[in-house]
Amino acid sequence: MITGNQNTDYARGLEGVVAAETRIGFVDGINGRLVYRGYNIEELAESSTFEEVSYLLLYGTLPTKAEFEKFTARLNADNRIDDHLFKALQECTKASHPMSALRTGVSYLGSMDKDSNKYDLPSQEAMGLRLMGKFPSLVAAINRSLQGKPMVRSNEPNYTVRFLEESFGKKPTEFETKVFRTALILHADHGMNASTFASMVTISTLSDMYSAITSAIASLKGPLHGGANEQALANLERIGSPKNADNIISEMLEKKEKIMGFGHRVYKVYDPRAKILKEYAKKLAEETGHSELFETAEEVERVMINKLGTKGIFPNVDFYSGIVYKSLGFDPRLFTPIFALSRISGWFARSFEYLHDNRLFRPRSMYKGEVGPLKYVPLQDRK
Ligand code: SDX
Repeated sequence: MITGNQNTDYARGLEGVVAAETRIGFVDGINGRLVYRGYNIEELAESSTFEEVSYLLLYGTLPTKAEFEKFTARLNADNRIDDHLFKALQECTKASHPMSALRTGVSYLGSMDKDSNKYDLPSQEAMGLRLMGKFPSLVAAINRSLQGKPMVRSNEPNYTVRFLEESFGKKPTEFETKVFRTALILHADHGMNASTFASMVTISTLSDMYSAITSAIASLKGPLHGGANEQALANLERIGSPKNADNIISEMLEKKEKIMGFGHRVYKVYDPRAKILKEYAKKLAEETGHSELFETAEEVERVMINKLGTKGIFPNVDFYSGIVYKSLGFDPRLFTPIFALSRISGWFARSFEYLHDNRLFRPRSMYKGEVGPLKYVPLQDRK
């Protein structure tokens, strides 16, 4: 049994603890740099596609044309969700948050997959690809449920375009596709974040890839993690205009409230993803009549950096993404499912990588309870 003084013998929240090796991605929290397999995120966001980045994360190199065609063919081989699942999603979104519907949807797909009791590498890879191929339709179907509209089925093979087309029932513009594809690339992988860690803990027991992704979705839902994008937008809308920013932020900080979209366990400088999303948020907000929302965000950023910049608290990926998604027409409740639409590639890649040199995750805990042994007293004799 491990006992000892609180806070001095272990890293709360595993802060700073290295729990695995990886070649997939590197988060440089001091210099504000994000790297996928050696490529800077800025270059991939500008020039790549989400499928190509997913291949890179999973297999370690950018694909040749033949490899890319084979990969996208596998993703699209069985990319639809059935009417039974759509009906279940409609019921779920009436009752609870779309992230619960997404978690249920992945569980449903896992329950219907004949391989979901296998754990050899080829089966885990096949399950991950099948699930990833269905994700655009799954998240789009949740969006349609939220809107109270029927499911749309598109024959579009491109991950980004299919999602947008099945979400809104019409082809996206080139700019909308570019912005959304960039957001998907930016959110794809990010070191040992809570939801990635959750997926890896699950796969380390040799459970199946559907279960690992279900664990990840359950973890991403929380407002300290993926749920922050929805809350950050709600806060901006509550502030309403740049002139209110200083007063409201000061009040919140005095009450020790966390300002959603700021701060990070690893980045102690501006999140490089937020820099890119901010540019798109500005352009989209101006084009869609949300300029005041963007100006409010800029003022909140100025106030927060002024107050907490010296403590290493800056905008993170969730601060401007909400303005981008709102400007594209999404209900804020869909923002975190959209985060998952991208992060499934990182969850899948890291769980698959970990399986190649698997070791069951099983940390210890500091026992602070009664050491005993205490004498058992029967119920009738207890006072
Ligand atoms: C994501 O891990 C990843 O990589 C995650 C992610 C990914 O791509 O997977 O990047 C995605 O989850 C981004 C983060 C989204 N969450 C939020 O925006 C929620 C608000 N942020 C905070 O809850 C917080 O910054 C965390 C949870 C993100 C990180 O917090 P830590 O490392 O646990 O730091 P902490 O809570 O111990 O804070 C240290 C100090 C505290 O003040 P003191 O007690 O020392 O006086 O900084 C303060 C905190 O109160 N602080 C904040 C703050 N974040 C930290 N104060 C106000 N607002 C904030 N946002």
